[in-house]
Amino acid sequence: MWKILVTEKIHPSGLKELRKDPEVELLEKVDMSEEEFFHLVKDVDALVTRSGTSIDKRVLDEAKRLKVVARAGVGVDNIDLDWASRKGVVVINAPTGNTLAATEHTFALLLSICRKLPHGFNDLARGGWNRKAFMGMQLHGKTLLIIGLGRIGSQVAKRAEAFGMEVLAYDPYISARKVEELGVRRALELEGALALADVVTLHTPLTSETKGMIDERTLKAFKKGAILINCARGGLVDEQACADAIREGRLAGAAFDVFSQEPPKNDHPLFAEDIRDRVVLTPHIGANTHEAQSAVSLIIAKNLLAALKGEPYEHA
Ligand code: MLT
Repeated sequence: MWKILVTEKIHPSGLKELRKDPEVELLEKVDMSEEEFFHLVKDVDALVTRSGTSIDKRVLDEAKRLKVVARAGVGVDNIDLDWASRKGVVVINAPTGNTLAATEHTFALLLSICRKLPHGFNDLARGGWNRKAFMGMQLHGKTLLIIGLGRIGSQVAKRAEAFGMEVLAYDPYISARKVEELGVRRALELEGALALADVVTLHTPLTSETKGMIDERTLKAFKKGAILINCARGGLVDEQACADAIREGRLAGAAFDVFSQEPPKNDHPLFAEDIRDRVVLTPHIGANTHEAQSAVSLIIAKNLLAALKGEPYEHA
C-alpha cells in the first residue's frame, strides 16, 4: 500500500482518482499543526501539496519512507529540490493545468490597476460618486514587456496583442523561433527593455538567478509612470523598493498576486496607506479557477500514480 498525505486543499477530481486505486491509502489533512505534520510525514510514501507547505531539508530528513512529492501547481520553489534529489525523492508538478487561469488573472490585475477598479468600487460602496477621480490608462498602443516567455508568458503575449499592445519579451532561454511564432519583439537586454515599457509583467520561476530581479537598481531603469504586474512568484521583486518607487511617482502603480512571504504581514510595504490608491493586491489566487484546479488535480493524480509505479510521467 502507498500512503499518500495531502497537506492542502486540492480539487476533488484527482483525489477521487487516487482513492480508486486499490494500492492507495489517502490521508487528507489540511491545516495541520507542525507537530502533527512531522508526526505523519515519517510514515508516508508521497506528499501532495500546493505552495503553502514548505518541503525543506528537515521534512525530507524526517520522511524516511517518502518517494514522491507531488506539487499541485507549477512552482516548486517551496521544495528543497537538491536535498530531495540527494534523498532519492522524486518531485513532480502539474505544469500545464493552470496556464490559462494565471494568464487570465494577469489581465484581471492589469485591467484592475489601469482602470482603478477596486478603488472605484470601494469609493462607491462608501457612498461616493467620484467619476473624475478614477481616470484610467488605455492598453491599446501601450508597450508591454513580458519577462519570461514560457507557457504563461506566451499566452499573455497573445492576449496583449488582441488588446492592441506592442509586445516586447525578455527571456534569455527562449528560442528565436518561438519569439518569431508569437510575433513579439525580442529584448536582448533587460534594463534597455524596462526603459521602453508602459507595463512590465513577470512570468518566470523563482530561482537563484531570478530572485530579486526587480530591485532598487532595476526599478531605476523603468520608464517613468510604468506599471508593474507580478502574478508569478513573490521573491522576484524587492517589495519595499517597489513601494518606494510608487511613492516617489517613478511607478504609476503595481498589481501583485504573490508575495515574498505568504501570507504577507500587516506591515507589508505594499499595504502602506499612502500608496493604496495605486496598488491592487490579491491573495495568490492566480490559479484559482474551478477549471484549473480540477485540471491540476487530475494531472497530479495521474503523474503521482505513474511515479509511484515507476512509469513515465509528465513534468516540467
Ligand atoms: C503554481 O505554482 O502553480 C501556483 O502557485 C498555483 C498554486 O499552487 O496556487
